[in-house]
Formats: sequence, C-alpha cells, structure tokens
Amino acid sequence: MIVAGLDIGASVTKGVLINENKIWTLSEVQASDSIASAVGCLGRLLSNSKIKIKDLSQVALTGSISKDLKLDMIDLRYKIVDEIDAIGVGGLHLSGKKEAIVASVGTGTAIVHAKLEEKRYYVEHLGGTGIGGGTMVGLGKLLLNKDRATTILKRARSGDASRVNLLVQDIVGGPIGRIPANATASNFGKVGDDTRPEDVALGLVTMISEIIVTLTYFAAKQKKLENDIVFVGRLPSQELFSERLSQTLEMLGGRCIIPVNALYATAIGAAKAII
Ligand SMILES: Nc1ncnc2c1ncn2[C@@H]1O[C@H](COP(=O)(O)OP(=O)(O)OP(=O)(O)O)[C@@H](O)[C@H]1O
Ligand SMILES: [Mg+2]
Repeated sequence: MIVAGLDIGASVTKGVLINENKIWTLSEVQASDSIASAVGCLGRLLSNSKIKIKDLSQVALTGSISKDLKLDMIDLRYKIVDEIDAIGVGGLHLSGKKEAIVASVGTGTAIVHAKLEEKRYYVEHLGGTGIGGGTMVGLGKLLLNKDRATTILKRARSGDASRVNLLVQDIVGGPIGRIPANATASNFGKVGDDTRPEDVALGLVTMISEIIVTLTYFAAKQKKLENDIVFVGRLPSQELFSERLSQTLEMLGGRCIIPVNALYATAIGAAKAII
C-alpha cells in the first residue's frame, strides 16, 4: 500500500511516497500557486519512483491548504490531514521517539507535543511564534537589502556575533553559573561603527534561533520533555541554523534531534497518519 503525502504551501509543495516499511522517494516543487506545486510535486514523485498513479492507495494533503483547494481533476482518493497532526506524527516517525516536543520551523514556527501509544498518535498544539524563515528574509531585506535566504546565510557564516550582540562577557567579564561567557545578553545590543553586514546577518540568524529554542525549551520543560525535542522544517535543515539551535538548547540544559529529511517531516507525517 503506497501512500503519497503532500505538504502544500503557498508556492512550494514538499512530498513523499511511503509505505509501511520505507520512504520510496521525496521531492520538493516550487510553482506560481499551490495547485501547480501540489500537482507538479505528485508528478515528480511518481516519475522519480516509476510508480503509476493508479498504484497509489491514497494521497494525504496537509499544509496551508485553502478551503477551495480541490484535486478532483486527477482521479485519486485524498484525505486532508491537519497540519499540526502531520508535524507531530512526522517528528516522531523521523526521530524514532515515542514521545517528543516537535517544533516545525518554516516561514513561522509551530510547537507540538506528540505521543505514540499502542499504535495511536496523540498530538497537542502547544503554541508557536511568527518568528521563522519569513522573519529572516523580511529583516534581511530591511537590514541588508538581501532577501534571498541563501545569500543571508552565506553572509552570516563569516559574521562575528561579538560585533553585533552584547555578550555575557561584555557585562560581567566571564561566565555566570552555567551560562557561558559568549552567551547572548542582548541581541543586537552592541551594534556599533565596527558592525559589518556579515555580523548583522549572523545577528539575525542567532536571534531567530535563540527565540525559537527558548520558546521550545520552556514548552518542553512544562511537559518534562526537554531532552526529547525534535526540530523539523526548512530552517533546521540548514547547517548554520541546526548548529545554533542545538548549541543554544544545550546551553539551556536541553537536547534535540534534527532528523535526516527534517524538511519533509510534515509531508511524511501526513502520509503516516493515514497509512
Ligand atoms: N535555503 C534556505 N534556507 C533557509 N531558509 C530558507 C531557504 N530558502 C527559503 N527559506 C525560507 O524558509 C521559509 C519556508 O520554509 P518552509 O518551506 O519550511 O515553510 P512553510 O512550510 O511554507 O511554512 P510554515 O511551515 O511555517 O507554514 C521561507 O521563509 C523562506 O524564505
Ligand atoms: Mg511547513
């Protein structure tokens, strides 16, 4: 029984073909609208895996799906899976955990509590924040006149956080308890004449990561799951973000997994939810 999972966004669809035992193929398609990207993604998945549309037992749709989205023109059976459920199920499946806090970091951030008990998934939406990839691209445009995520991240890699953020060592000259000397005391709190564009780019990535980690950590602590955090979505799939997320969380006393295929977690979760 092969199932397709499509995580449909405004212009990008991430998709997967999966059965009980394995992931057959993954794909991401960008187009001018959600129907074009969803249908294009399904086509790419089928063509990658040489599976015929008639061999799909079902298609799971999730993501930011508008009420008018219909895929009736291609004769297939589909089910709509709530995006929050898909995030939770996908995070558990990819991490191999039975219970976790899953934070999906895309344009914005959603934080869920997911549990697998006797083959049933339970997912609770804990909250989230509008801070995410959209923030990086929007503020990148305002601060650096660059609105491509890859350009901002490339710049950030040669940045120096101590030229943009006020650090704990700037205030007390060393660490405070378990807070290391190079921890941020104030994001963008040390912008000065020697702050360069690459420092601003790193300041942006650092601030976004720190806000997301701090919120996720407090949500996880409330459930006593601070060592069982799973980050998924596009931002954690980027090396610089994954480093910043893991290091900041460790400093707070938590631990996370950023699984392989984190970008596809929601699509995988949607398919797993109906399989
Ligand atoms: N190479 C990249 N690295 C990091 N971020 C990127 C990259 N390319 C695009 N982005 C940013 O990632 C965001 C999109 O991520 P993703 O596809 O996970 O979001 P989404 O699923 O549409 O959003 P959400 O899950 O919040 O509804 C956009 O804000 C985009 O600017
Ligand atoms: Mg998403």
